[in-house]
Amino acid sequence: MEILEVEQKIDWNNLTFSITPTRSMYFATCDLGGEWEPGDLIPYGDFKISPAAGVLNYGQGVFEGTKAFKTLKGRDILFRPDRNAKRFIKSAERLCIPPVPEEMFLKAVEITVRDNADYIPPVGKGSLYVRPIIWGTGPVLGVKPAPSYTFVVYVSPVGPYFKGGMRALHLKVTRYFHRAAPKGTGNAKAIGNYAASLYPLKLAKEREFDEVIYLNAANENLVEEVGSANIFILKDNVLKTPKLGGSILPGVTRDSVIQLAREILGLEVLETDVTVNDVLFADEVFCTGTAAVITPIGKITTDDDFQVIGNGEIGSLTRKLYDTLTGIQRERIEDTFGWVHPVPMYK
Ligand code: COI
Repeated sequence: MEILEVEQKIDWNNLTFSITPTRSMYFATCDLGGEWEPGDLIPYGDFKISPAAGVLNYGQGVFEGTKAFKTLKGRDILFRPDRNAKRFIKSAERLCIPPVPEEMFLKAVEITVRDNADYIPPVGKGSLYVRPIIWGTGPVLGVKPAPSYTFVVYVSPVGPYFKGGMRALHLKVTRYFHRAAPKGTGNAKAIGNYAASLYPLKLAKEREFDEVIYLNAANENLVEEVGSANIFILKDNVLKTPKLGGSILPGVTRDSVIQLAREILGLEVLETDVTVNDVLFADEVFCTGTAAVITPIGKITTDDDFQVIGNGEIGSLTRKLYDTLTGIQRERIEDTFGWVHPVPMYK
């Protein structure tokens, strides 16, 4: 498809977080115990898979999420894709999947974004979501690692993750479901973690909540995560986020916010235990993720009651962090961290 056709086909002003088919995707395979074969771009589309595939029967799959942006300097850039590469290796190891070497991951992401660069939304209209994913695609009947694996990188232009764009969310603290348990797979980006979150999310949405706040499975006084994002609270000028451990995903945006808050805004930041009461009585609460970026939380409902956070709107620190992060991602603010990763030309 020519660039002009892409521009005519996509309504850049009304992007949502959903799939738009693009030109191509990266595709590579590997046998269990072997090395990844060099992959290549193929047309974006369906492919055949065995009904006995490990991923279809036992959920053996891990993924990543990163984004490409057009910037005010006229460049196409990725944001900290090296962090995703490293986490992808850790997630794969946890699920007995042959890890994709960091260099191969970066090249796969770069060439997929480069080939689909005309699908990156104009500055201010959204981003190109990049989804690297590995599945156990070889057939297996007993519960064991699949004999072969497929690594794909596909992309889609996206708008805001939460319907309605930048607005303060209303979340529900669930005491009926846990997202992950200590020593489980909560700190890996395992596909099954997200399947398990669908039912609590469905129930929450039926009651008009935007998302769920999960508690620590071993201590229900402690807050862990929002289903698709990490959580932060501000109280008396100290920023806190639940400390990483067995069951919290080490988010790339989480890490970026910690560094921005400490080094640019000079705030005290603690990775620590965060209780339900800490969250309910915070000055500001927000969640972070590649998809969610930095999204304010304006109201929280527990089983007993609800609490409005601040004035129920976006807090001033949340706004500052959002503007700083997105400013770096759009090259409006100088990147003193080395996070901006220009997409090479590969021509
Ligand atoms: C991301 O932020 O990239 C995520 O993985 C969250 C979600 C869309 C599953």
